[in-house]
Amino acid sequence: MPFRTRYTGLINKYRDRLPVHDDTRLISLGEGNTPLIRLNNIPGLIGKDVDIYVKYEGLNPTGSFKDRGMTLAVTKAVEEGSRAIICASTGNTSASAAAYAARAGITAFVLIPDGKIALGKLAQAMMHGAVVIQIKGNFDAGMQLVKEVAEHAPVTIVNSINPFRLQGQKTAAFEIMDELESAPDYHCLPVGNAGNITAHWMGYCEYREHGIVNNAPVMVGYQANGSAPFLRGKMVDNPETVATAIRIGHPQSWEKAWKVKDESGGWFDECSDDEILAAQKMLAQNEGVFCEPASATSLAGALRDIKSGKIPQGSKIVCTLTGHGLKDPDTAIKQCSGSMITVDAELEAVKHAILDNMSE
Ligand code: F0G
Repeated sequence: MPFRTRYTGLINKYRDRLPVHDDTRLISLGEGNTPLIRLNNIPGLIGKDVDIYVKYEGLNPTGSFKDRGMTLAVTKAVEEGSRAIICASTGNTSASAAAYAARAGITAFVLIPDGKIALGKLAQAMMHGAVVIQIKGNFDAGMQLVKEVAEHAPVTIVNSINPFRLQGQKTAAFEIMDELESAPDYHCLPVGNAGNITAHWMGYCEYREHGIVNNAPVMVGYQANGSAPFLRGKMVDNPETVATAIRIGHPQSWEKAWKVKDESGGWFDECSDDEILAAQKMLAQNEGVFCEPASATSLAGALRDIKSGKIPQGSKIVCTLTGHGLKDPDTAIKQCSGSMITVDAELEAVKHAILDNMSE
């Protein structure tokens, strides 16, 4: 039996669909190729006959979908001779930029909202050696500053306004279709800047245009209700949510995302913080999949729309889980407080703790 070809990242896998040359030096950490996990238990729990898959993007090298876009953005930045990249971030983009810059041997400058990024993401940006600039303002203010500063300094912006980011991220849709051998009926995502929903739609349309599949999903974007400009129909100035990754009031892909909604026949909806955290815990406890709060927004919204019948029985649904649960240990532990048992270090005490907590 010959050995299987080693997986070397998404640019190599999809190079004929991406803007690279034969001699382009690839900056890769083996990103992409993430599992599409079929939910076994949750459809029964909500009493609906649906096929739900989660695309577990938390298993990318830095723990979020950002790596798909970052591998291409940094590859192109290096190809163009850039020595430094810059981004504003709610955390995951900064972690990814920091790692890929380290890999490429260039500098990453990251602007993050003071005190409002999850612990794991901050640890990543610092550990990978990025220059971390905390600003006394939110992501939207950081994004504005990044755009302004890039006009005066020799730095390449690697936020999703960099077109290579979306090109890289469209490969998630390719992987889903490669695996399902068609597009799903519905694709549900959490929406912040709306880059990812736009990138997925690009990927679905590309395969359909090239006749690789003959369908495309209805695209559904869910926001946290304290940070829901697509629901308000206008920018939101002081966004708030426990899902700090999507604490964004001025989405950068505003027009593109409205187009995605219209072209795919989809919709936007919003979830409360309580719904988001409940979905995160439900998934962790019933399927063994741990995602960060922002990611659970896709599942929270999808479950509500499945229960109401807006997403009909018999549908095939993909929910993107954008980031790993370990990114935000504080929120996870806070939710599960009281579920730890402390006993004396002796046999009787441990035996009781087990017998008292045995499930039927
Ligand atoms: N989920 C997670 C875990 C994210 O980190 C983000 C965005 C989104 C969803 C939303 O994706 O912006 O393409 O609609 N995080 C960015 C960051 C803003 O800085 O890490 P989007």
